[in-house]
Amino acid sequence: MSPDFIKRKVLLLGDASVGKTSLIRRFVVDKFSDDYITTIGTKVTKRDLRLELGTRVVDLSLMIWDVLGQKGYKGIQESAFRGAKGVILVYDLTRPETRASFDDYWVPRVRAVAGTIPMIVVGNKVDLVEDRQDAVTRVAESGRALGVTAFVSSAKTGESVEAAFLAIGNLVVQQPEAPEDAREAGKEEGPLTLVGATDQIIVDFCHEFGDMETGMPLVRQQLTRAGVDINAPSREGLRLAVEYLAEVEAGFKGAGDVEANKLRRLAWIKEAR
Ligand code: GTP
Repeated sequence: MSPDFIKRKVLLLGDASVGKTSLIRRFVVDKFSDDYITTIGTKVTKRDLRLELGTRVVDLSLMIWDVLGQKGYKGIQESAFRGAKGVILVYDLTRPETRASFDDYWVPRVRAVAGTIPMIVVGNKVDLVEDRQDAVTRVAESGRALGVTAFVSSAKTGESVEAAFLAIGNLVVQQPEAPEDAREAGKEEGPLTLVGATDQIIVDFCHEFGDMETGMPLVRQQLTRAGVDINAPSREGLRLAVEYLAEVEAGFKGAGDVEANKLRRLAWIKEAR
């Protein structure tokens, strides 16, 4: 029987530093590094899988979206949620508060944008845990609470990484290719923070450039060049980043538009508390 070809978008969601990028790296290139480089914005990686579903063979192109875990980047995160067909929720077994963020932050936010899509839970960094049995019990409870399959994993040793991605792959192929939800990403409630201003600047640049997938590599380059720490951006670093982004925009926009965009973004930085 000839295989079906299906492409599906899945998200890795969870707090900063729980191991999302490391899990993707282990799954896609089978490597691990102890260095921590926070994800600026989003990053998309592809891996093809052949799934055998009863008598049906499906070639699945998994578009894996690594989404920055720092809270407060509502615009970037909600833009990334659009069109997703599945989620791997990741937490760090050595930091229980990262588990609580599923209910407080990630699950309600992704459901508001992408609807009730399949999810699985991954309790990561099991190699650092002393009481393995306790970790297995806690992760199983987390899965039960959300009504989803759960795994203990280690991006470092590779434990259950393939199994977790295969599990979400098997769930997303059964999802219909529904039209993308056109709802606009909203801004964070309350007074604008520096994180909120960074979020708005990034979303604004990507919007001017075309879309998130094509704009984000440029954002990453210029924010890195300006030395912006995405987890704790400084006013100075952000101002510099806005200058650099304007230089990039000068390559594809008129001087009037470039200046207007720059002033709008600088005003957000000024407004931020
Ligand atoms: P953000 O991009 O900031 O949201 O972080 P992230 O969730 O993508 O985390 P990342 O993969 O960058 O990992 C954070 C740190 O944890 C890095 O120093 C990794 O080397 C480490 N790490 C990730 N997974 C594991 C694991 O399974 N075991 C151990 N021991 N360390 C891990």
